[in-house]
Amino acid sequence: MVETHTSRMTRIKSDVDIRAMKEGGRMLATVLDQLEKNLAPGMNTKELANQAAKELKSLGGKPAFLGYEGYPDVLCVSVNDEVVHGIPKTSKIIKEGDIVGLDFGVLHKGLITDGARSLIAGSSASKADKQLVAATKQALDAAIDAVRDGARVGDIAAAAQAVLEKHGLGIVRDLVGHGVGDHLHEEPNIPNFGSKNTGPMLKAGMTIAIEPMATLGGYHVFMAEDGWTVCTRDGSRSAHFEHTVLVTRDGAEILTTA
Ligand code: MF3
Ligand code: CO
Repeated sequence: MVETHTSRMTRIKSDVDIRAMKEGGRMLATVLDQLEKNLAPGMNTKELANQAAKELKSLGGKPAFLGYEGYPDVLCVSVNDEVVHGIPKTSKIIKEGDIVGLDFGVLHKGLITDGARSLIAGSSASKADKQLVAATKQALDAAIDAVRDGARVGDIAAAAQAVLEKHGLGIVRDLVGHGVGDHLHEEPNIPNFGSKNTGPMLKAGMTIAIEPMATLGGYHVFMAEDGWTVCTRDGSRSAHFEHTVLVTRDGAEILTTA
């Protein structure tokens, strides 16, 4: 999400809520798995959104992004220098070697899950692009490892930052992870750089979306003219991974998984 100040701290979820979010998160992962399988150079980005809408409907879920703050589709598809929130278009054709970020949200039994992954189209990825994608995924894994009851948001941020910096990547700062559940974007904000032992404390039962965004260049981004797509200022390529996770007594449980 674009960093803003809201006032709704994510609620401690009941067992019933958690079950619903697990079901929704499984639908989300199933849809992204299908898109990943079908992704190929020559497709347009609207085809991916249409497939996502159809598959989610057949699974019994509702899209969480469509109409959110006026967002016009069910899926965000962000290619290369587009970091996040790319709007699907029939005129946008995916090419061999493109980095394609797929970001999807599901509303199920009144609760939202949010997840994303970056993929490289075709079979001729550059070494740098492969490393960017792998390191961003690794940053998400490290950030999730830092989650537990009593951990602070800065612990998550520092874990993501350490991995991204080790790989010499730009760390996007204007966008952050967030609490999620009753609404798509709740408190706390979860940045991808920061210091251990700072920020709000996590409690078991909270549900949060962690979403590192990294670039092969600098960290500056700008908003495209469509009012949604966030792009790197220097034109460098970027990657984005996101899971919705449940904070537990001694760790985290990933909800957006099949
Ligand atoms: N994972 C994205 C975020 O938290 C979801 C954006 S949905 C949109 O920013 F509708 F705002 F595009
Ligand atoms: Co999100």
